[in-house]
Amino acid sequence: MTSAELPAPYGEGAGAAPATPSGSPAAARPSGRIRLHHLQQAKDQGTRFAMLTAYDQYAAQVFDEAGIEVLLVGDSAANNVLGHATTLPITLDEMIIFSRAVSRAATRALVVADLPFGSYEVSPQQAVASSVRLLKEGLVHAVKMEGGADYADTVRALVRAGIPVMAHIGFTPQSEHALGGYRVQGRGEASGRIVDDAVALAEAGAFCVLMEMVPAETAAAVDAAVRVPTIGIGAGPGTTGQVLVWQDMAGLRGGRQARFVRQYADVRTVLSDAARAYADDVRAGSFPGPEHTF
Ligand code: KIV
Repeated sequence: MTSAELPAPYGEGAGAAPATPSGSPAAARPSGRIRLHHLQQAKDQGTRFAMLTAYDQYAAQVFDEAGIEVLLVGDSAANNVLGHATTLPITLDEMIIFSRAVSRAATRALVVADLPFGSYEVSPQQAVASSVRLLKEGLVHAVKMEGGADYADTVRALVRAGIPVMAHIGFTPQSEHALGGYRVQGRGEASGRIVDDAVALAEAGAFCVLMEMVPAETAAAVDAAVRVPTIGIGAGPGTTGQVLVWQDMAGLRGGRQARFVRQYADVRTVLSDAARAYADDVRAGSFPGPEHTF
């Protein structure tokens, strides 16, 4: 999806474009909020959009200015920010803090927050109450919820309350113990169940279906079966959008990357080199210099 394809009055006279390095694609793009219908328009026109996770003010600002259409305050903050081994321990209160930081910083992107484990499974009412907090206190525009067709009633309740829902199917990290670890879902005969889940959730009112770690053919079959846009992570090239965890995309996280990650920078090395250079200067007495001294 490019700015030229965004509908009027998107961006028209909506204020100055965010400050970006001149010449970057975002510098030429008018400001204005990405809304659900822009994502639907991408699907209808056969174009694509990008989503990245963000958990804090500066990452959100950088990605927003870079033209990332959707920022996800993922419950992956549990293992990418808080140091947990899985996404399960993060709380709704913690998600609200990360959500507020991202929402305050992003002027253009649609901001979506995960309903964390334990905040929606008990009943549709629990899901509505948790989502209201994410929108009211976390200031996000939509929620993402893991789960298949069994959660269609919950999606309906959220939509009835005016809360846009992104469905998350395939590998659902909150169920990693039930699923036996990080495993591709929807291979072979199981492909039909993924399509059925997507259709049920889209019919219930989900504005988008995200698929994690499913074969490319399964994801393409889902994209063909539902009218709403789809987003993939480890789901091949046949979805409307793609998402990556930003620390994977930018190379901040060390260790082995998942097969579906493409690393676009080596931020870990940049930061490490900067920290070493700083420490060397401090030890040598060359920082602070006269120009840093009052
Ligand atoms: O929490 C998250 O980062 C996610 C993505 C992996 C889609 O759900």
